[in-house]
Amino acid sequence: MEHSFWHSKWQKNEIGFHEPKGNALLVKYASFLLGDETSQASLKRIFVPLCGKTRDIGWLLSQGCDVVGAELSELAIIQLFEELDVEPTVTTTVNGKIYAKDSLTIYVGDIFKLTLTDLGEVTGIYDRAALVALPSPLREQYAAHLMAITQCAPQLIISFEYDQNEMAGPPFSVNEDTVSSLYSDNYTINRLERSVLKGGLKGKVEADNLVFALHVK
Ligand SMILES: C[S@@+](CC[C@H](N)C(=O)[O-])C[C@H]1O[C@@H](n2cnc3c(N)ncnc32)[C@H](O)[C@@H]1O
Repeated sequence: MEHSFWHSKWQKNEIGFHEPKGNALLVKYASFLLGDETSQASLKRIFVPLCGKTRDIGWLLSQGCDVVGAELSELAIIQLFEELDVEPTVTTTVNGKIYAKDSLTIYVGDIFKLTLTDLGEVTGIYDRAALVALPSPLREQYAAHLMAITQCAPQLIISFEYDQNEMAGPPFSVNEDTVSSLYSDNYTINRLERSVLKGGLKGKVEADNLVFALHVK
């Protein structure tokens, strides 16, 4: 998708993808990224690519981890900080802006301009509605770039599978074969869940939620 497509969506507030209560599947499977109560406490730094203003960021922060996001729309990130009731420090860089406060850092700009050095070390990646936001050729570029800038950090991916003939994306249908073709050279992929998306996608198309855990090989 062109950048203008997403900027227009945010300007018109056409953000049906945004979940006002956050994503229950993150809460259900977060231990994959964060460890469980019995595991040793160590600081987790979670990357949220194409983050929008997801409520999941607030939830991850509430679990005591650092969060780093990447998002094209500055409007989204202004709203994110307003909704978290946090006043960010804003720094301008050659590739965009950085909004930051305490444990939260967001790179505002094109994710493809973000480098390994910019991002720093992350212990996990939370991809909800990022892979599915991208059309097929860009998805390959995104997957390769994500692996490069995170050095193949573990990923929790939440995607949708539906009949692509029934509806044009985004969101695009991203099934297990697609995840495998993008990531299986570098990751072991476990599907944690397939469940029916209640009400269908955009209220029109029957769809399943898929959740994947990816460990580096
Ligand atoms: C479907 S939304 C998902 C947002 C969020 N993950 C959520 O679950 O609410 C996709 C987001 O990706 C952002 N985006 C699209 N292309 C991007 C790019 N090249 N770099 C950074 N962000 C991008 C859009 O502005 C949009 O907010």
